[in-house]
Amino acid sequence: MTKRLQVYQTDALVVTFDPNVCIHSANCVRGLPGVFDPSRPKWVDLGAATAAEIVATVAKCPSGALKVVEAGAAKPAAESLPAGGPVQIGVKPNGPLLVRGRITVTRENGEVVERESCSLCRCGATKNAPFCDGSHNRIGFKSPS
Ligand code: FES
Repeated sequence: MTKRLQVYQTDALVVTFDPNVCIHSANCVRGLPGVFDPSRPKWVDLGAATAAEIVATVAKCPSGALKVVEAGAAKPAAESLPAGGPVQIGVKPNGPLLVRGRITVTRENGEVVERESCSLCRCGATKNAPFCDGSHNRIGFKSPS
């Protein structure tokens, strides 16, 4: 089941969180624990840091689950990448494949999903195939050596 996109907004920023592609790297939690605190019911508090700090932290989200739009911008910078542009794929040690660039993924059930900056499972334990859902942490996945 697809989870809804979460939207958090101030006069300066709009931050979105797509729980369907989060890999639970916790870069946001470690980077700005006052802003990103999963122990709170409303886990994002944009008033707890400056806009620049939030933009810098969101940029470190490896899955693309977090995106930010600054006031006056039409789209997140990542969404301005051209269709058919370059795609880069990296490997997160003991984790997913990290994709940067626009891609179209066809799920096993035929659903077509367009993504940028997504993470693809390589451990086989995800419940959101082919996307990583952080299950590699739960099962203790180790990269083949
Ligand atoms: S690599 Fe993350 S769930 Fe499989």
